[in-house]
Parts: sequence; structure tokens; C-alpha cells
Amino acid sequence: MKLGVGKKPAADSAPALMRIEAIGAVADRLEAAGVEHPQDEARALLRGAAGLTRLELALAPRAPLSEDESRILSDYAARRAAREPMSRILGERGFWTLDLTVAPGVLDPRPDTETLVEAALSLVAEKRDALLSILDLGAGSGAIACALLSELPAAWALAVDISPDACRATAANLARCGLSNRASVVRGRWAEAFQGRFDLIVSNPPYVRTEDIAGLDPEVRLHDPALALDGGADGLDCYREILRDLPRLLAEDAVVLFEVGFDQAARVAALLAAHGLQIERVARDAGGRERIVAARLAPLST
Ligand SMILES: C[S@@+](CC[C@H](N)C(=O)[O-])C[C@H]1O[C@@H](n2cnc3c(N)ncnc32)[C@H](O)[C@@H]1O
Repeated sequence: MKLGVGKKPAADSAPALMRIEAIGAVADRLEAAGVEHPQDEARALLRGAAGLTRLELALAPRAPLSEDESRILSDYAARRAAREPMSRILGERGFWTLDLTVAPGVLDPRPDTETLVEAALSLVAEKRDALLSILDLGAGSGAIACALLSELPAAWALAVDISPDACRATAANLARCGLSNRASVVRGRWAEAFQGRFDLIVSNPPYVRTEDIAGLDPEVRLHDPALALDGGADGLDCYREILRDLPRLLAEDAVVLFEVGFDQAARVAALLAAHGLQIERVARDAGGRERIVAARLAPLST
């Protein structure tokens, strides 16, 4: 079954596809391209192309596609079959309870990173209404800062990234979520230029070993910026760099949380310990892998 390409159909041409038929055709195309969950993705692409909610599609699956919808869906299907991520095609990603814009040249925030948000919120649960200061190092789309600020009503955040695209994306998502009045976005190299002290320091730095980047899925390798992925020869370069400045930035009783690669928790914990921090928690993602290392300053021995 062929999707329309946007030309007006001739009087004797086949009738417009129904939504349900178009979903089937797109799903076949995605399956042939090796995309997982082709039916779900085809539905999401159709909803995006036709501007439909789940409910609207469920209520009228046999409605015909308009010419414009057919043309947009055809474009979306070709891009997804070429392994462009769904969130980049639709320009949007649900993260935590928020809808965030996914900008070109900026890491597409992942569900795994919600584990960091969850762990951070549970570690500051008793101070939920306090004037907490948050430092988000390598803010990317601003996903972590936005999620934390959305849950901590009196907190403010400093979001830092070295990439101008990321700084713009963070500022745009803060504005989209109505959180700009409690955040500043600064372009910089990790925390090297800052003097203050923070109650909550969070970072999901690049942690992929350089030699592993070529083997990543095309969705990641071709669409996420190398600057957001490459953690150096052993994947830990950015943690080392951040940790050089971190101890002087910690307020009393501050908490630090790092997202780490699936096999890095023990080594990142050792780096934190070597900088005078004690491990507070290691949290696992939905797949049961250790992905978040949380720490505090170790008490001074007497
Ligand atoms: C893995 S992404 C994380 C983005 C976002 N925090 C998230 O969790 O979706 C890492 C981010 O670190 C930024 N970055 C890389 N090197 C940096 C540096 N030296 N200083 C500040 N940010 C850096 C990248 O531009 C990228 O946005």
C-alpha cells in the first residue's frame, strides 16, 4: 500500500487511505527498516501528522487522511525508516510530567534520566518547600532542571552547558514549562567559573567510551551530538573534570547525583570517594541496572 505524496488525486485515482490503513502501511515500512514496536510508532506518527490525540484516533480510526496529512505522514515515515528518532521527527518528548521541545544539535532526553530526577527528589524530600539551590551541569535540553523545578516549588536552578544550542534549548524549555523566573542558564565549561554553594548538584555528563560511539544505534550515533556522548577513552573524563571543582561548590548537607553508564557505577563511586564524598545511594533504572550514583560530603573525622 502506497502513501500519498501530496499531489491532488485525479478524479479516477484510488480513494484516500483510512487512518487505520495508513497505520498498517507505515508499520510495515518501519518493520522492514528494523524499527522496534512498528505499530505503536506508526500510530504515534499518524497522530503527529494529523494533529490527533490518542482519544481522537481511537474514536475515528476509519476517517480518511487528508492530502496534507498523507504528505506529512509519508515524510515522517521515510525519516523514521531512516532511523531518525521519533522525538526528533515530532520535535517533542515527554519527560517526567512535562512536554519538552527536542532541538537539533541537543541530546534527546531519555526516560533513564527520570531515575536521576526520582532519586534527587527522594533525597531532598524533607526539604521540598525550602529555598534549595540546584546546579545542573551539562543541562542539554534542560530536562533535569525543568523536572526538578517543577517539583520543588521554592527552588532555583543554575543550568550550565558548553554548547550554545543546549543553552538555547534549556532556556526555551524552561520558558515552555513556565519556570524561567526560577532559573538562569549559563554557557560554560562545567563548574569552573562558579563560586557559590549549592544544595543539589546534578549531572548527566557524556559517558560513552570514545571507541563505543561507532557501535551505537543510528538513532543515537547520527542524531545526538558527539559533545553530549563522548566521555573519553574510559568514558569517565567528564566525571573527573567535574569533580575537580565539585567539593568547593557543596553547601552544608548538599547532595550530588550523577547519571552513569550501565557498567560505571562502581568506578564513579570510587572517584567521588576519592574527592571526599560518601556514597548515599546507587539507584537502578527500570531495567534494574545501576545508573545513578548519589553522594554527600563525608563528615569530618574527629
Ligand atoms: C548526556 S548530555 C545530558 C543532557 C541533559 N542533562 C539530559 O540529561 O538529557 C551531556 C551534556 O553535557 C554537555 N557538555 C559536554 N561537555 C561539557 C563541558 N565541558 N561543560 C559543560 N557542558 C558540557 C553537552 O553539551 C550535553 O548537553
